[in-house]
Amino acid sequence: MKKKVVLAYSGGLDTSCIVHWLRERDYEVICFMADLGQQEDMKVLKRRAFQAGASKVFIGDLKNEFIHEFIYPAIRAGAVYEDRYLLATALGRPLIAKSLVELARKEKAGFVAHGCTGKGNDQVRIELTVNILAPELKIIAPVRDWEFRSRDEEIEYLRKNKIPIEITKKKPYSLDKNLWGVSIECGVLEDPYTEPPESAFQISRAPEKAPDRPEYVEIDFKEGIPVRLNGKQFKPQGLIERLNEIGGRHGVGRSDMVENRLVGIKSREIYEAPAGWMVHIAHRELEALVLDRQTSDFKRGIAVEYGKLIYNGLWYSPLKGALDAFINTTQQRVTGKVRLKLFKGKCACVGRKSLNSLYRKELATYTEEDEFDQKMAEGFIRITGMPYLRKE
Ligand code: ARG
Repeated sequence: MKKKVVLAYSGGLDTSCIVHWLRERDYEVICFMADLGQQEDMKVLKRRAFQAGASKVFIGDLKNEFIHEFIYPAIRAGAVYEDRYLLATALGRPLIAKSLVELARKEKAGFVAHGCTGKGNDQVRIELTVNILAPELKIIAPVRDWEFRSRDEEIEYLRKNKIPIEITKKKPYSLDKNLWGVSIECGVLEDPYTEPPESAFQISRAPEKAPDRPEYVEIDFKEGIPVRLNGKQFKPQGLIERLNEIGGRHGVGRSDMVENRLVGIKSREIYEAPAGWMVHIAHRELEALVLDRQTSDFKRGIAVEYGKLIYNGLWYSPLKGALDAFINTTQQRVTGKVRLKLFKGKCACVGRKSLNSLYRKELATYTEEDEFDQKMAEGFIRITGMPYLRKE
């Protein structure tokens, strides 16, 4: 009997070559395509997988699960990697890997395969997840092992083997896109001193080309999750897509960074996540209104850890569950409304309100309504300063 492998198939050149490469090595290749909202023509890609020699092709519509089980927890955590990356790519990988495992079990395959390179984070995320969820499965990573040294060699390989795949001409960048954002690298971006050309950006306008008038957006949160936009109820996917449109139009949500990869190298990457940043900023400002000081302070540290954990491919780790327990408690209060102002690439919070607000105007005010007993301050300061006083 042939060995069976389930391949995470993206429809690009690499994974198309992998299908044939595995067949040459006597595998039956079942392709799995994950729909995370990358807006590609899945029918065309499915045909391509068959042309390359797949025995079966499955398309998994993972959008809802991606939102509820991955994006929402990241929002509630406030997760960001190295201050600028909202983790769109990193959040998708454990879900893709989990789906590979499920399909491998259903199809009784002993192997899973992916098209990640040996220098990136994604191989680690996918393989760690597979190892944790299904240690019995063997993993094949052809791009790490095979003989091809360039795109041209891969094209030549397909041609020689009479695989009729219409190869689009070389793209100047390596892109990864889903509902939560776009990651862009390679090409001219490899010089960290070169400004990203406008053509590198996929879903946002240049801030200088954004409208000359600001636009206001209101987001309602229920327990840390965005539920309404400008007072209107949206389906989760619709809300994210609408925010991407609005934010993108105003040039909001771009990052340009040199990041530390898991495998020890630095890479220059640019990101677009208009919806992500608008939600992140709004959520942070609502938390500032409703969380007490110590919880808020502690949660900032948790957010950093949560961001690292996602980046490092440890979604299915015990630490993730432990952090979730803390985050879930804090989010019970995070219900309310935030008003954002978008203008030429900037997204600022200009208003926030909540029934759980801890803001007390009668204590903060400088008018005659002031109820703060200022005389209390003197003792407070003396006691606070006690550890620093030296005896004369
Ligand atoms: N550096 C990002 C991450 O590790 C994105 C990786 C995928 N990017 C890409 N352009 N293919 O999550």
